[in-house]
Amino acid sequence: MRVLRSFNDQWVFEGKDTVRLPHTAVELPFSYFDETSYQKVFTYEKTFEAEADWQGRDVVVHFEGAMANAKVSLNGQEIASHVDGYTPFEARLTGLLIDGANTLSVTIDGSENPAIPPFGGQIDYLTYAGIYRDVWLRLTSPVSIASVKIETPEVLAQSKSVTAAVTLHNPQGHALEGTISAMITGPDNAEVATTKTGFTSDTLALSFENLNDIHLWDLDSPNLYTLNLTLDTATGRDTHKTRFGFRHAGFTTEGFHLNGQLIKIRGLNRHQSYPYAGYAMGRAANARDADILKNELRLNLARTSHYPQSTWFLDRCDEIGLLVFEEIPGWQHIGDEAWQAQSVENVRDMIKRDWNHPSIILWGVRVNESPDNTVFYKETNRVARELDSTRQTGGVRCHEQSEFLEDVFTMNDFNLGMDEFDTHKTQPVALRDQSQCTGLDYKVPYMVTEYNGHMYPTKSHDQEQRQAEHVTRHLQVLNAAYGATGTAGSVGWCAFDYNTHKDFGSGDRLCYHGVMDMFRAPKFAASVYASQGDPEGGLVLEPVTYYARGERNIHGIMPLIVLTNCDEVEVQYGDFPPVSAFPDRENYPHLPHAPVIVRALDFGEDSLDGWGMSWEDGVIVGLRDGKAVIRRSFTSAPVPTTLKLVPDGDTVEDGQEMRVMISVLDQVGNKLHHFSDPVTIDISGNGVLIGPGIVPLRAGVTGFWLRADGIGEITINVTQARLGSVACTVSAG
Ligand code: GAL
Repeated sequence: MRVLRSFNDQWVFEGKDTVRLPHTAVELPFSYFDETSYQKVFTYEKTFEAEADWQGRDVVVHFEGAMANAKVSLNGQEIASHVDGYTPFEARLTGLLIDGANTLSVTIDGSENPAIPPFGGQIDYLTYAGIYRDVWLRLTSPVSIASVKIETPEVLAQSKSVTAAVTLHNPQGHALEGTISAMITGPDNAEVATTKTGFTSDTLALSFENLNDIHLWDLDSPNLYTLNLTLDTATGRDTHKTRFGFRHAGFTTEGFHLNGQLIKIRGLNRHQSYPYAGYAMGRAANARDADILKNELRLNLARTSHYPQSTWFLDRCDEIGLLVFEEIPGWQHIGDEAWQAQSVENVRDMIKRDWNHPSIILWGVRVNESPDNTVFYKETNRVARELDSTRQTGGVRCHEQSEFLEDVFTMNDFNLGMDEFDTHKTQPVALRDQSQCTGLDYKVPYMVTEYNGHMYPTKSHDQEQRQAEHVTRHLQVLNAAYGATGTAGSVGWCAFDYNTHKDFGSGDRLCYHGVMDMFRAPKFAASVYASQGDPEGGLVLEPVTYYARGERNIHGIMPLIVLTNCDEVEVQYGDFPPVSAFPDRENYPHLPHAPVIVRALDFGEDSLDGWGMSWEDGVIVGLRDGKAVIRRSFTSAPVPTTLKLVPDGDTVEDGQEMRVMISVLDQVGNKLHHFSDPVTIDISGNGVLIGPGIVPLRAGVTGFWLRADGIGEITINVTQARLGSVACTVSAG
């Protein structure tokens, strides 16, 4: 039987510290750091003894990802290397292990090696050095299952079929004969079908026909099936499980269809980076990001800008029904032929790693925003189509009329706001017409893959007026995408703020392009997306205001944008008669849920908005079908009353991360946006804090991640000078 064991523990980093993977070579400050600090060579070493039951088995160490240019040696002899920082690789130890202590050492090179993607030009993100993903020890029989590719042909037919292409691993050259038994199990683990066959080569094809009562994988019911394989040869038994789903995904000139149904894509781009730890986060944090995108931002797609991301993230997308557009590493720059050959290799590695994820609906086979290059991109497309004929290709470009070699024209459309840059352009439209971007006089499958971002960077603590404009721009593009018939949808830039190079961002090594900050705390613009979700899945009522007389230029809070999926909003200001307002369908005719815009005049001339008048409390109520369903209260004289601590759950597995959010609230439960005093974080028990122990609040909120270390309890204590301490306990195990 196959054994897969975590190999994350007890690595010695740079000859001194004993560390646990995932690990970042240099823990960075939140901002204003030198991004060259991790751009050098680092060494990890792990000493272990081969155990008795490894005898006669194939012994492999599997690395999910290391940044970058990894070289692996066993007892001083180099046994494996892998240049790309985003795809997995393996080191085979069989036959090389000695009695007693063995030392596996891994050197990685965090420098931005221009010979490999994504390097060679400037890139607007960081590529933090480290063995930043999990490492596994795998023991198998000498003949074992190397890879499985599952397809579900004609998936929308009543009765379904499954094919699986299985490749065997036989490094010792044993006789290739034996049997393979296969069983499909359903979402409830019940058996769906079985088959058994003999084989005489290292590739074999399995198929299942006439499967009935199969549940499709879709956004609301992401049903997952498992193909369980048992391989028997004279060398022993190997077992292997692969999850998959039954679904059809395709882009046409009408838009995007999932299982035959037209769905407007509403997505955001995600970088896999976190404050302090860079890329070094494991299953829990990556899975949590998927949950945030699906459940808090109510999106239906994430683009893994600009590289293959953690399989933990993709697994979670499979489990919760979040579509994914995955792409190869790179940013604007194309290197020489060897560089391009590596990029083609990246296409292969990405697709072979991820072809069984039902959530992935499109392969990105161009370097993001790079210039046309016919030979190179014909080859990336050819390889993608050859490896996976079931998915279409896309390739993200930002130039009009670029050469269309892919199946879907995926376009970064940063038109909105161009008037500020180009004085000749007076009437920016939120999105250009697809024919202007493609340069083609016929329609093609088309999706907008970025907008906003650097056109209007907005910090979570920026002034209210800027927040309102940030919100408005996201609303405008989203509305335009919903209105563009034939456009599959849009994917905005971006979900979370991220650390970046000096050549980008606000000088502090941060791009404030997210609708959430780096801790995934929402800015107002987050509610642009959340409010497009069905009310049944969660009501949203987010007035875009800090609720103060003098925050905006001149004064007042009007016009007030209320982001909501209610169909009416009632505003009660002081003792004035309540005012009702309705979704602004005139300006946002295409959105599922247009925002409500409340205007000062709705209250009557001068009734509320005078400088010098007393500022009063307010209540904003959201109604559906005439019934009040959600309410927000605002106090005219906020003071800090509550220090709130919200861990993402009450249990965390050993070695996994948990995010904890901290906020300071006023008397009626609103965040105090201008409260930036520090808080002290203290973790005791079986947990370790990631990042510093004293941090400021930003926009009245901050967060941190901890990592469980052992089995037991973790006590979290947060102290704020004016509000005292709050504590909570989570269990680690
Ligand atoms: C795009 C690029 C992204 C990001 C974004 C900022 O051009 O593809 O990676 O830099 O701009 O808006």
